[in-house]
Amino acid sequence: MPYILGIETSCDETAAAIVARDGEVLSSIVASQAATHGKYGGVVPELASREHLRAITPVVREAMRQAHASWADLAAVAATSGPGLVGSLLVGLTYAKSICAVRRLPLIGVNHLEGHIHAVVLDARKSGAVIEFPALALVASGGHTHLFLWPGGERYQLLGKTRDDAAGEAYDKVAKLLGFGYPGGPVLDSLAPHGDPDAIPLPLARMKGNPLDFSFSGLKTAVLRWVQSRQMESEIAARRELLRRNPRPSPEEWLRVTPPATLNVIAAFQRVVIEELLKRVERAAEQTGARSVIISGGVACNAGLRAAARSGRLSCPAFFPTPHLSTDNAAMIAAAAWPRLERREFDDLSLKAQANLALA
Ligand code: KG4
Ligand code: ZN
Repeated sequence: MPYILGIETSCDETAAAIVARDGEVLSSIVASQAATHGKYGGVVPELASREHLRAITPVVREAMRQAHASWADLAAVAATSGPGLVGSLLVGLTYAKSICAVRRLPLIGVNHLEGHIHAVVLDARKSGAVIEFPALALVASGGHTHLFLWPGGERYQLLGKTRDDAAGEAYDKVAKLLGFGYPGGPVLDSLAPHGDPDAIPLPLARMKGNPLDFSFSGLKTAVLRWVQSRQMESEIAARRELLRRNPRPSPEEWLRVTPPATLNVIAAFQRVVIEELLKRVERAAEQTGARSVIISGGVACNAGLRAAARSGRLSCPAFFPTPHLSTDNAAMIAAAAWPRLERREFDDLSLKAQANLALA
């Protein structure tokens, strides 16, 4: 049975995976750099490339080992060619090209966003769920917030995207200004149920032009103003101190240094982000007659978003990947490459890494 080796290094995760034709994931290794970037409150591109260089060989070896795969079992190597940080993308793509050159294997360059969408397809195949087309695909992560109409196959139509911050970036920036570590999404998501989302009014974006575009910078500024209007220095210092002693505090530890007013602002922030996302998905579903909704990317891990999308609010079923496949991983890259291998559509070794590669 031939396999595809997938490699993903577009941001701050070094990942490799082996995926079979039927969608079986034989291995999926992700080396996170969160500990490196945590103290800066966001990804530092130079550090990211350096960490990818360190991690790429052991990560690929481990993916091969766990899958019991040898080079002869591979039918192709797939690597993310964009969008992402160019210095990071180059590490994975160059590594993939070297394997292809030495082992005489075909190379398949994959768009990172298409990978995120295929993460859902992989999971649906495994569970036997049927995704009906046309589908809407919302990719919400630290770098992207894009809404596509996916009629099926390899065509995607961009319906809207963020004009400023990505949804995950808004989580990371709000977490940073409140003194929580990076990435901010998981912490704020775990604390949001402890606050009252109605206690502090935060604004929804007012959009001119395409109503399916997103904007999160006004919301982030509103939280910043709220912080500036209060005396929060000692509270924020206590959280930074907790983070210094323990890089990964539990929700209980965070709760001890987070008073009710801050929990309320977190709950209100989370509610507005979910509303911004689902309002547009709802509207796009009505406009296009979509029969399924796919939500992927790191923000798809959000428990509040999952619950809201499945509360009966949407006119069609919503599909989310499992958390491991929601955040950056290489199984989704190998999965997105399989249809290209079937059609024998390969890239040549001159394929470039593109920071702004568009999917549609
Ligand atoms: O897809 P991903 O791993 O990387 C990018 O392509 O950006 O997404 C990472 C982003 C980060 O901004 C992180 O804060 C956010 O996803 N994230 C979440 C949650 N888990 C991760 N945002 C909200 N709620 C979560 N539970
Ligand atoms: Zn991503």
